Amino acid sequence: MGKEATFQDFSAGSPPEGQDLWRWLYVELRAAILDGRLKPGARMPSTRSLASQYSLSRGTVVTAFDQLQSEGYTHTKVGSGTYVALGATGRAVSDKSTPDLLSGSRQSKARLSKWGERYLRKTDVISAPLHVGRAFRDYEPAIDLFPTELWARVASRVLRRAPRSLYGKGNARGHQPLRRAIAEYVGASRGVRCSPEQIIVTAGSQQALDLLARFLIDPEDKIWMEDPGYPGASQAFVSAGGRIVPVPVDQEGLIVKAGRKMAPQAKLAYVTPANQFPMGVTMSADRRVELLRWAAGANAWIIEDEYDAEYRYFGRPVASLQALDRSNCVIYVGTFTKMLFYALRLGFIVLPEQLVDAFAAARSFVDRHPPTLDQAILAEFISDGHFGHHVRRMRQLYAERMDILKAAADKQLNGTLDVVQAGAGMRTLGWLKSIASDKEAAGAARAMGLEVVALSTFTRTYTQPPALILGFAGCSRAELHRGVSLLRKALRGDPNLVS
Ligand SMILES: Cc1ncc(COP(=O)(O)O)c(C=O)c1O
Repeated sequence: MGKEATFQDFSAGSPPEGQDLWRWLYVELRAAILDGRLKPGARMPSTRSLASQYSLSRGTVVTAFDQLQSEGYTHTKVGSGTYVALGATGRAVSDKSTPDLLSGSRQSKARLSKWGERYLRKTDVISAPLHVGRAFRDYEPAIDLFPTELWARVASRVLRRAPRSLYGKGNARGHQPLRRAIAEYVGASRGVRCSPEQIIVTAGSQQALDLLARFLIDPEDKIWMEDPGYPGASQAFVSAGGRIVPVPVDQEGLIVKAGRKMAPQAKLAYVTPANQFPMGVTMSADRRVELLRWAAGANAWIIEDEYDAEYRYFGRPVASLQALDRSNCVIYVGTFTKMLFYALRLGFIVLPEQLVDAFAAARSFVDRHPPTLDQAILAEFISDGHFGHHVRRMRQLYAERMDILKAAADKQLNGTLDVVQAGAGMRTLGWLKSIASDKEAAGAARAMGLEVVALSTFTRTYTQPPALILGFAGCSRAELHRGVSLLRKALRGDPNLVS
């Protein structure tokens, strides 16, 4: 074997304070092996000499040596000592064509997948905002009035009584009591016809859309998307390789005739019929029937996203598309992130029976199943009646918050922004009266600390007049008033904005 390593080969400075000494020594020796100071085949310094050089105990040095040996950096010859292994590590290091393994600042040139590459230029990464209930955040329900004490009581009862089995492997379709509760609730509230076996519990609607996109879409498949429409859905479809066909929306919802003309054989249509995102219109009965007829004839799927259908402030609730479907082509998606709180990250899919088994099998290899204990808490919250009570309370509160926003805007923003009295949901539109660019107007509002999005952010082919999207459900009365005053300053204060 090679010659014994000298202390010039390995010189580690002095041990730092407050760190495991054996780990420090192990890391230093490993670095010396990797960067070639301790050459393959060389005899390691003896444990005795290292211990005395660095004032370490023999035991500490032996532990570091054991770790190196168990990871394959060294091997021991009985009666002869410990040697640096003649492994790939040494060859890679001594090969001049390969870069130095230890110069950590280099970026790998290994390629991403096409899927990953799509995200290289994306900047919209979910992160926690600083303030709760900031005007005019549009994606969160009222966290300020969520009954956290009640939730905590239900959670602690569930956790105290949970059988040990709930700590083990769960069900890829979701926790059975939750699926039962969801099936009952969507049946009674939205007319959805399903058994608990057709429910798949997901991590909010976004996971539902992502899984469905992978399950249903092949590269180049055409997808009807409402224009303007929900980017969370189009992003999932594009990621799966689908080609978006933007279909215009009018007062009755998605214009089915236009879709038929552009892509009669599309694979899938994504719609938000109860409360179109972001225009806030309800799909008419005629359009619903027209859409179902098209899907049945074209052998297409329809994804019905009912993200906030519970919140309807006037008029009679319209039953879901799924309730009218006789061809088993509608896949219904719902979410508790709007009905309870965003961080819960629980939602669900109602699948046609024929898809359930294959979908559950596919899901088993994605995230196995959703967290069982969280599902058990939610199931109990629903079956105890707290969920129904909370939603009724929120419906009333959001109607009041809509009125507060409308009254304040009519008074303070008259002539600048015409705020629509939303009949449903958690957000509304404000039409800009004297400003041509809604993106610039939204930018001016954001500069004031407001959370405002331009309607044009969500349009693809069919432009809309300039408008701002204003969330109201999650904002207190005081915050709505503060928001409207700041919006007034933002929209009136910048002369460049006025066309
Ligand atoms: C159209 C639409 N679908 C679904 C969601 C909810 O998504 P998630 O359940 O992933 O929070 C939103 C949220 O803003 C939405 O606007």
